[in-house]
Amino acid sequence: MDGLIFGLKDVYFSYLGKFPALCGIDIKISKGQKVSVIGANGSGKSTLLQMLDGLIFADKGEVSFRGVEIDEKIFYDPEFSRDFRRRVGFVFQNPDTQLFCPTVKEDIIFGPLQLGLEKSEIVKRLEMLVESLGIQGLLERPPHQLSVGEKRKVAIASTLIINPDVLILDEPTAGLDPLTTRHIIDLLIDENTAGKTIITSTHDLHIVREMSDVVYVFGMDKRIVKFGRAEDILNDTALLAANNLVHIHSHRHKDKMHAHPHLHIEHHNDSV
Ligand SMILES: Nc1ncnc2c1ncn2[C@@H]1O[C@H](COP(=O)(O)OP(=O)(O)OP(=O)(O)O)[C@@H](O)[C@H]1O
Ligand SMILES: [Mg+2]
Repeated sequence: MDGLIFGLKDVYFSYLGKFPALCGIDIKISKGQKVSVIGANGSGKSTLLQMLDGLIFADKGEVSFRGVEIDEKIFYDPEFSRDFRRRVGFVFQNPDTQLFCPTVKEDIIFGPLQLGLEKSEIVKRLEMLVESLGIQGLLERPPHQLSVGEKRKVAIASTLIINPDVLILDEPTAGLDPLTTRHIIDLLIDENTAGKTIITSTHDLHIVREMSDVVYVFGMDKRIVKFGRAEDILNDTALLAANNLVHIHSHRHKDKMHAHPHLHIEHHNDSV
């Protein structure tokens, strides 16, 4: 298929051969698409994203990147590996995995320096990201001293600065305040409008509509339960409830307790 970025065919993966995490996954992601993956805790979202980033490899089935099958061996080829790392950027669910330099600034510029990007381009992108993420005051601080949300912003900056064609973000807005979430979504939408492919996992249904041309819902059995347009998935309350994506809201009327599914996006559909 022309413009196919990732293709997964009947992919299986277990940790240590005994903890299943992906079971029979079929996914196609085209250039310039926004794709999101939603599902309960432990349904396999992070495992899928790590596989797309070439960090783990399928036990069974096929994974391709731009028409080339990817397995562990292909990453031994320094040329392929370098090209892949230049084209595909990953933001880990846990920002501590990504931050290890003495200062935030060094962390952000580490990737592009490793990849040999031009210094003037690095400085230009650093300034743009620092401005749009509002992290001017953090640059000289040690990353391990930051709050969770601050760390996440730094982790996002350290990936975006590489300017990859494909951005993979594992719960990019978890723990972020609403205004910061808005800035990050705006930034990602701008990147998508400029042609980048964006793959996001999230529990935050507020961002799903904007971040998805296609949504995949992962089930507790580590399979895809349903995929489709954000509109159709978000209107399927039974599907969302069955996959822990809406919570039960209980309240008391006189002496009686009532419980019903509570879909927060009901209040925000048009405004987010
Ligand atoms: N390092 C690991 N070793 C063993 N099992 C693991 C490991 N990482 C994940 N798993 C298991 O794989 C399954 C999928 O986990 P994964 O982290 O992909 O889920 P997730 O959908 O990202 O969950 P969350 O919403 O909590 O981030 C889970 O059953 C989990 O227990
Ligand atoms: Mg996860």
